[in-house]
Amino acid sequence: MSQDLYEAARAVRENAHAPYSNFRVGVAIRSSSGIFVGCNVENASYPEGNCAESGAISAMIAGGDVEILEVLVYGEADTPVAPCGGCRQKLAEFSSPSVPVKLAGPEGVRVEMTVGELLPAAFSLK
Ligand code: THU
Repeated sequence: MSQDLYEAARAVRENAHAPYSNFRVGVAIRSSSGIFVGCNVENASYPEGNCAESGAISAMIAGGDVEILEVLVYGEADTPVAPCGGCRQKLAEFSSPSVPVKLAGPEGVRVEMTVGELLPAAFSLK
């Protein structure tokens, strides 16, 4: 059941700070202790911007949890919005390869994949 993640990601997208790209993204992560959300936060110094995934992961860590159970990315583009390469690595740090990642838009979930599919052969602590 991802409806709660969907609603959380869609809602937090409204808070995105994206005056440069005008492309807002919301992410919700489920962990054992609850749902954590993030939105993209851009910066006039472009490389200093943060992706929504990064914000949600930071919120989870600050909340004291370290294990991602499910991820939902919400964006409004013609095609599914998938995490960038750097965020795939960040997700993999706190996920098993089987963790589901749902890519959603206004009509609902468009694509379902896993962290392992997003980043095969991930570099890790192991
Ligand atoms: N972005 C995210 O926050 N997450 C994604 O999954 C894809 C892209 C952001 C980065 C930037 O602020 C804007 O979308 C346009 O690339």
